[in-house]
Amino acid sequence: MKTAVVTGASSGIGDAICKELLNSGFVVYGISRTRPQFRHASFRWIQLDLTKTQNIPRTAAQISETSIDLLINAAGTAGKHTGLDFDEKIFHRIFDLNFLAPIYLASSLKNKLKRSLIINISSTSDRIAEPGYALYCSSKAALNMYFDVVSLEQKNCKVISILPDYVDTPLLRKEIGSEAFDWDKTMKPEHVASFVGSIVGNHAHIPTGARIMVLNTATLGSFSKKELLYAYNVDTDTLISSQ
Ligand SMILES: NC(=O)c1ccc[n+]([C@@H]2O[C@H](COP(=O)([O-])OP(=O)(O)OC[C@H]3O[C@@H](n4cnc5c(N)ncnc54)[C@H](OP(=O)(O)O)[C@@H]3O)[C@@H](O)[C@H]2O)c1
Repeated sequence: MKTAVVTGASSGIGDAICKELLNSGFVVYGISRTRPQFRHASFRWIQLDLTKTQNIPRTAAQISETSIDLLINAAGTAGKHTGLDFDEKIFHRIFDLNFLAPIYLASSLKNKLKRSLIINISSTSDRIAEPGYALYCSSKAALNMYFDVVSLEQKNCKVISILPDYVDTPLLRKEIGSEAFDWDKTMKPEHVASFVGSIVGNHAHIPTGARIMVLNTATLGSFSKKELLYAYNVDTDTLISSQ
């Protein structure tokens, strides 16, 4: 049996991924603060607040297997604030969970990560700025770049970043609140989980360091959103646009 570690196991995308992997025969160690509602003989729950990064290194001791085939960092949080007006509390809540925790966890499990697949559930927010979400967007951009470097350094592991657009989960429900929003255009956690399951089963065609947006027809436009990137050539004194 293959072994997976999945964060965010108690809700939304992480919960759906755990179920997908359990159905595929994995032993799944699921990390969250609250106990997941499902039960399965191959599921082991690790109760951990991932923002208490000093406790993350203890996780390795709770996993009896000598090697882990799959690490999925799905736990995440968001929160609205204006870009130039936030306090340290929200900075740490978002950056500690979305950026630091995946790094600490991968690092503390590194002796068990041999020829493993690391999947980070990032977001299209890594490249699509949204007013009110400077910390969320930048935490995802930082996470992707950090693991781009890890993907170059770790020849034994493959790193893939998954970038979903809107998914109907408790996180999104909380963020949208009572605002008008077309919920019919969102994806379900199972859409993301099923795609993750398919690449876990066969990722030979996907190179390490790949970023894969998960979209539906309503959000396909996110794929073609271009960065406002220019280059200034000092030899020719010209400014060129990438678009
Ligand atoms: N929903 C979307 O539209 C969307 C789009 C793109 C990307 N994403 C990303 O997808 C991932 C999952 O999000 P979701 O929408 O499925 O959210 P969710 O339903 O709110 O689930 C979040 C999970 O993270 C865990 N978590 C939160 N704080 C934690 C902490 N301090 N320590 C340990 N675990 C913690 C929660 O468990 P406990 O509360 O039990 O600890 C829960 O299992 C996130 O990384 C998010 O950024 C979501």
